[in-house]
Amino acid sequence: MNIEKWLNDTRVMIETWIKEDDVARQAPSGMVEEVMRYSLLAGGKRLRPQLVMASTMYLGLPSETFRDVALSVEYIHTYSLIHDDLPAMDNDDLRRGHPTAHKMFPEAMAILAGDALLTEAFVKMGQMQNAKAEDVLAATTYLAVAVGRQGLIRGQVMDLAAEHRNVELTELRAIHRNKTGALFRAALVIPALLSSNYSRQKALSAYAEHFGLAFQIVDDILNVVGSRDLMGKNVGTDDERGKATYPRLIGIDQARRLADDHRIRAKIAIGSEPGAQILQDLIDFAVDRQW
Ligand code: IPE
Ligand code: IPE
Ligand code: MG
Ligand code: MG
Repeated sequence: MNIEKWLNDTRVMIETWIKEDDVARQAPSGMVEEVMRYSLLAGGKRLRPQLVMASTMYLGLPSETFRDVALSVEYIHTYSLIHDDLPAMDNDDLRRGHPTAHKMFPEAMAILAGDALLTEAFVKMGQMQNAKAEDVLAATTYLAVAVGRQGLIRGQVMDLAAEHRNVELTELRAIHRNKTGALFRAALVIPALLSSNYSRQKALSAYAEHFGLAFQIVDDILNVVGSRDLMGKNVGTDDERGKATYPRLIGIDQARRLADDHRIRAKIAIGSEPGAQILQDLIDFAVDRQW
């Protein structure tokens, strides 16, 4: 399968799912749904839901089986971006090629839209119909832990605490694992939990570990050498804010080598059975991307 085509087709499909969902239906102005819709449909790669689909295929199931999970992880991701861009955090005014939510709407509405997206993700998980109740419980708990104080939130706290400070590589790795890696891991592992496929869970988890690190190393690199137009977000901002990043710590060339190293390890972890092809291609995309 041609990966470019797969990425385009699934992105269109995921956006259709979002548009069909109640939370993103056209909402009267001034309602929190308006802000949710704005940020959800502003654009973006849709990589986390695509990983849910790719993982599901790797497990031998139709890619759309866990559509609710695909939406949940994209909602959580979008919430995390809205909050990440707030003045109290990274203070960014451009996201997905559009003004950030707090620039378009009152800041309080942006905060609340983030809160509502996070909550909505768990409504979706709880209402899932096509898996055993005990598997849904395990998956929902896994997701909550991944994005809570032991995962994404911890990473965001560490990221802010590391500004304008010298950090060691081990600390930087922990920041990236948590702020970015944890949600990728959830996207990849949850389909295995929902289908009680524990033998493949280990490979998915190992792949996810390297995927998350490679992805965030490349995000750091693109913040230095990437294009604002292609990425739809400002560049050079990490340096301005004194963020702890791989280019700052080890330089661009070494950072690229490290991302390549994680690419290779991810590929080894997932193996080369036919069902693994999309995951093989997705790590290439994550490392080679320009946006
Ligand atoms: C950006 O994620 C935030 C990070 C965790 C680095 P993406 O680069 O996946 O953002 P979108 O969804 O494509 O906008
Ligand atoms: C974003 O990390 C991580 C989360 C939103 C959880 P960054 O702050 O490095 O990502 P960008 O560069 O704003 O997309
Ligand atoms: Mg940030
Ligand atoms: Mg940011």
